[in-house]
Amino acid sequence: MTSILRIDASAQLEERSLTRRLTSLFETTLRKANPSARFTHRDVGADPIPPIDHRWIHAAFTPPANREPWMSERLALSDALIDEVIAADIIVMGVPMYNYSVPAALKGWIDQVARIGRTFSFDLSRGDAPIEPILSGKHLVVLSSRGEFGFEPGGMRAHMNALDPAIAACAHCFGVDRDMIETVAIEYQEFKDARHEASFAAAEAATIAIAERLARRPAIAA
Ligand SMILES: Cc1cc2nc3c(=O)[nH]c(=O)nc-3n(C[C@H](O)[C@H](O)[C@H](O)COP(=O)(O)O)c2cc1C
Repeated sequence: MTSILRIDASAQLEERSLTRRLTSLFETTLRKANPSARFTHRDVGADPIPPIDHRWIHAAFTPPANREPWMSERLALSDALIDEVIAADIIVMGVPMYNYSVPAALKGWIDQVARIGRTFSFDLSRGDAPIEPILSGKHLVVLSSRGEFGFEPGGMRAHMNALDPAIAACAHCFGVDRDMIETVAIEYQEFKDARHEASFAAAEAATIAIAERLARRPAIAA
């Protein structure tokens, strides 16, 4: 059975959010094509993840056998979020562009999921590349929306795109290789013109195509 982890990061709710419309379309399409698919929904936009702090870092960098009870409690949410990632074959994220990067709500999720001993290992005997991912084989679909346009490679605002690189840089912590990331982006939202209408329609068509293709993907998660 294919398992999908759906993450919504927009601070806007349902109909006011374009990324939520895309993640809903993705879920509806995939369920129709594969009725046995199992979805887990983590709505970090509506229910933000608290930022990590010095107690979290102390707990995370203490080996499990040496942890005091407060440390395990401090890591409980991180453990739950990581378990959701481990159980997923596909991760679909609704990611608005906020100030040229990911919403803080999604960054909070990434900071909780990127954890030594659970999603990556660190070993200086590996020389200049001490970090290795623990998870693998997952597929990531990023469904984004931007008020402006031209953030693709070669576009007029490519140099301002801190969203796609931020996700790609950490994707190994979610078990995703760079070549397993598919991104769909609505653009021109702030212009509200025909270009936006065309961009929205193209993004919906691309979302449907990806969902239908991934519905046939074999499950890999435990
Ligand atoms: C707080 C905030 C910051 C934004 N920053 C940017 C930005 O830096 N670049 C951009 O192109 N659009 C920006 N936008 C526009 C959003 O990316 C656009 O409205 C998008 O549709 C939001 O996703 P949503 O509809 O799912 O909420 C911003 C919107 C908000 C609310």
